[in-house]
Amino acid sequence: MIYRNLKEKLNLDKKKDKALVSHYLNTLGFKANKAYNEAEEILEKNNISSEKISKNNDFMIKNSEKKFTFIDLFAGIGGMRIAMENLGGKCVFSSEIDKFAVQTYEYNFDEHPFGDIKEIEEESVPEHDILLAGFPCQSFSIAGNRGGFEDTRGTLFFDAARIIDKKRPSAFILENVKGLQSHDGGKTLKTILNTLRNDLNYFVPEPKVLNSRYFNVPQNRERIFIVGFRQDLNVEEFRYPKEKKETNLTFEDVMEEEVVSTKYYLSNTYLETLRKHKKRHQKKGNGFGYEIIPHDGIANAIIVGGMGRERNLIIDHRIEDYTPVTNIKGEVNREDVRRMTPIEWKRLQGFPGKFEFPVSDTQAYKQLGNSVTVPVVQAIGDKIVKVIEKLEERVLTA
Ligand SMILES: C[S@@+](CC[C@H](N)C(=O)[O-])C[C@H]1O[C@@H](n2cnc3c(N)ncnc32)[C@H](O)[C@@H]1O
Repeated sequence: MIYRNLKEKLNLDKKKDKALVSHYLNTLGFKANKAYNEAEEILEKNNISSEKISKNNDFMIKNSEKKFTFIDLFAGIGGMRIAMENLGGKCVFSSEIDKFAVQTYEYNFDEHPFGDIKEIEEESVPEHDILLAGFPCQSFSIAGNRGGFEDTRGTLFFDAARIIDKKRPSAFILENVKGLQSHDGGKTLKTILNTLRNDLNYFVPEPKVLNSRYFNVPQNRERIFIVGFRQDLNVEEFRYPKEKKETNLTFEDVMEEEVVSTKYYLSNTYLETLRKHKKRHQKKGNGFGYEIIPHDGIANAIIVGGMGRERNLIIDHRIEDYTPVTNIKGEVNREDVRRMTPIEWKRLQGFPGKFEFPVSDTQAYKQLGNSVTVPVVQAIGDKIVKVIEKLEERVLTA
């Protein structure tokens, strides 16, 4: 954790300098390190000799054990990163635009991600084995019938694609909402696959929708994954992990062990509003509305907006004090209905206990809802690493 120790002394105010220095420090001992040599100047200016830093043995020994390298685009809070680190991978580059997500990322990985991907030149990204990107879903304006690389210009997928094109990683994992399949009448996904397969020349098996509930977390979350391997590696077959057995875990297994703050309990006024809202919608034949998850049940997908929190309410009778701790309308409800806490959401996404949020609850919910279920990405990553390791030539760059 070197950057953390130096941060105060350095007192850098430019985001790019923070990114450069933290990436430089984190990649010591890796080929990728030379991509960040501008950091040496920044360090020397602050009277920190880079020689002294590279003699930090503990860090170098830890780094030398890594099996492969990867980059983390649209990094969010690094859910995909955790999965790949668990498999022995080393992250050599990260990018994220949201300032609160960056705070959480830096706090947990001691690395300040580079900002807007649109401003990142593909040449400046170091070589890597696996590219990760959970890019936001956007429509393409397709000029001809084909729908390819050029048509994706101006979108965030294009930015991931141009980095793939330039750096030619052995493999990639792209993640998106299930709705990508039907987005713009299926044109969006078709264009993505056409670009990856025919313009970028990758072997891309049919994308797969995977549900977190089959990966040992009690959350019903479906996401689409697109995996690809560089054509010259001659990978002929890739099997996504199977959705074998539904988890035996239930909400109870992720529930907070202690009494939670009264702030998570709904006001009676709000609960009433939710009930009315649900009734209205049921009459119209819409099933959606608030939902109370039984302790032995499985949570709905945790999402940002779209009633993400209200569709995952629980009853928790352990409340000790009904005095409101926030500005609420009315009183705290006496049925003991509460929201799940960020810690419970963190567990529903399979994040490790030591992962922390140095941001408000609102931001933490948003960040977790935007993130991935770690064990799902890890199961896919494991399959990819096994495929690459089996190839005759050793292609990994770590
Ligand atoms: C669906 S989330 C991905 C979350 C991530 N996979 C994780 O595990 O936490 C998409 C992320 O892309 C980021 N993003 C959107 N536009 C961006 C841009 N222009 N440059 C960099 N990041 C961007 C968003 O802030 C958001 O955190």
